[in-house]
Amino acid sequence: MRFIIQENSEKVGRWTASYIAKAINRHNASSDRPFVLGLPTGSTPLPTYARLIEMCRRGEVSFRNVVTFNMDEYVGLPEDHPQSYHRFMWDNFFSHIDIRPENVNILNGNAPDPEAECEAYEQRMNELGGIDLFLGGVGNDGHIAFNEPFSSFRSRTRIKSLAWDTIVANSRFFDNNTDLVPRLALTVGVDTILDARELIILATGHSKADAVQRAVEGPLTHLHTITALQLHRHGILVCDDDAATEIKVSTYRYFKDREAPELL
Ligand code: GLP
Repeated sequence: MRFIIQENSEKVGRWTASYIAKAINRHNASSDRPFVLGLPTGSTPLPTYARLIEMCRRGEVSFRNVVTFNMDEYVGLPEDHPQSYHRFMWDNFFSHIDIRPENVNILNGNAPDPEAECEAYEQRMNELGGIDLFLGGVGNDGHIAFNEPFSSFRSRTRIKSLAWDTIVANSRFFDNNTDLVPRLALTVGVDTILDARELIILATGHSKADAVQRAVEGPLTHLHTITALQLHRHGILVCDDDAATEIKVSTYRYFKDREAPELL
């Protein structure tokens, strides 16, 4: 695992955007051979999206031949609901870059047959040769996408009921009213995420410190699905100083030395 510790969330965004842009540019994508990018919602990736938008405007990266797959979506929220992940992605990212709308894939939380929707989603990923790079965030309790505590490491895209902790955490976007937060979501599985050729998880702010400590130093456990990152061959965790406060000093020093700028 690589563990990158940056000073603040802004720098986490810059590091990550530059990594993603390099990966896209290296891929030499064409319409026949697109770069396949997995994406999260949440406040954590916003600085990364802002930086990628800036880079796209400056011509440093293009999304013309990038196909995206989002991690998850609430069940039952209309697509144009201000808190739907569809709306989030278009408002915060897709509307500002040169991506082709037909290359954007987001699970349909209003699909009449959610199981078939999830299967078709996995199939679309496979048809494109799998995900090249999956970017993710992490919940305060250490979940990735909506793979709540006790989600199997072998889980694939499916319907999932949200844990109470997640409902409470996400109620900040629903007038702080937990009754308004959907109880179900469609989400890629832990195994779907691990299948990606590269995986980057972002964590910023003190509320993520426990999850980061578990991800880096803790044992593998389905209680905190972030720990599955340890199983990935090219897993990268990028966090800010606030999110790194619970790790051991020796761990901090080890990764700070290993990721010294001259080694990047
Ligand atoms: C939700 C999403 C996750 C996201 C998490 C953290 O649970 N399903 O994909 O990582 O929130 O969000 P934030 O970045 O806002 O802390």
